[in-house]
Amino acid sequence: MFFSFFSLVFYLLLSKTLALSAHGMARCQFTSPDGHDAVFLEQVYINKLLMGQYNSTTGKLVGYTERMKELADDFNKDKHFLDQQKRNEERYKSVIPTLFQEALKSLKFIKLYIRLTSVKDPGSEHPAMLRCSVYNFYPKQIRVTWLRNEKEVTSDVTSTEELSNGNWLYQIHSYLEYTPTFGEKITCMVEHISLMEPIRKNWEPLSESDWNKISIGTAGLLFGLGFTTVGLIYYMKNTRGRLLVPTG
Ligand SMILES: *[C@@H]1O[C@H](CO)[C@@H](O)[C@H](O)[C@H]1NC(C)=O
Repeated sequence: MFFSFFSLVFYLLLSKTLALSAHGMARCQFTSPDGHDAVFLEQVYINKLLMGQYNSTTGKLVGYTERMKELADDFNKDKHFLDQQKRNEERYKSVIPTLFQEALKSLKFIKLYIRLTSVKDPGSEHPAMLRCSVYNFYPKQIRVTWLRNEKEVTSDVTSTEELSNGNWLYQIHSYLEYTPTFGEKITCMVEHISLMEPIRKNWEPLSESDWNKISIGTAGLLFGLGFTTVGLIYYMKNTRGRLLVPTG
């Protein structure tokens, strides 16, 4: 995870004709909620090239060109500069827990969701393959398992890593290769800290709209069959009646 909470950009437009621009950027990177691992960086760019940077891990300014190296040496000998950098660093680190909580609050509105789909894998020895995709979860730790008639399936299961969406949220895709048998129940189960209890999603080869089509079709068929039967009885009654009429 990468999080830059403070990014200050200022441009010095030295000359319009030269289109020379310089900008400085200060940022703080951390992965832990308390910010104990925070790295404070200050970078100077000229025409988008990194000229020099201060890195709190080393506590030194580093120059990337001859002139900037000389400049950095001067700064690194300056006790006042170094003390100031330390103070800035402490200040930024102290607000990290607050910022982290704020960021988490905004994540609460985002809900994890699951998609269960059938996919084709021509290379597979099994005729069927299901994919269970889980989207929008944070933190990264998650457990996706497959159940066949409520029993965990461990063979013929593959999974991607937890993939970062780049916005703190993750997604993962788990695959099950299997040979469908009649009357079995295949379930994808997801366990995650944001869930009160595991979510189970059952595989239904036919979707709801398919079921609707089938019921409408069946109703129509029965209706038609009813008419046919009534017609048939009517016809038979009539013919029988006619047969009963004595001829001769
Ligand atoms: C800051 O310095 C540490 C230690 O030398 C290094 O591991 C890290 O990559 C540096 N960060 C950047 C952004 O250069």
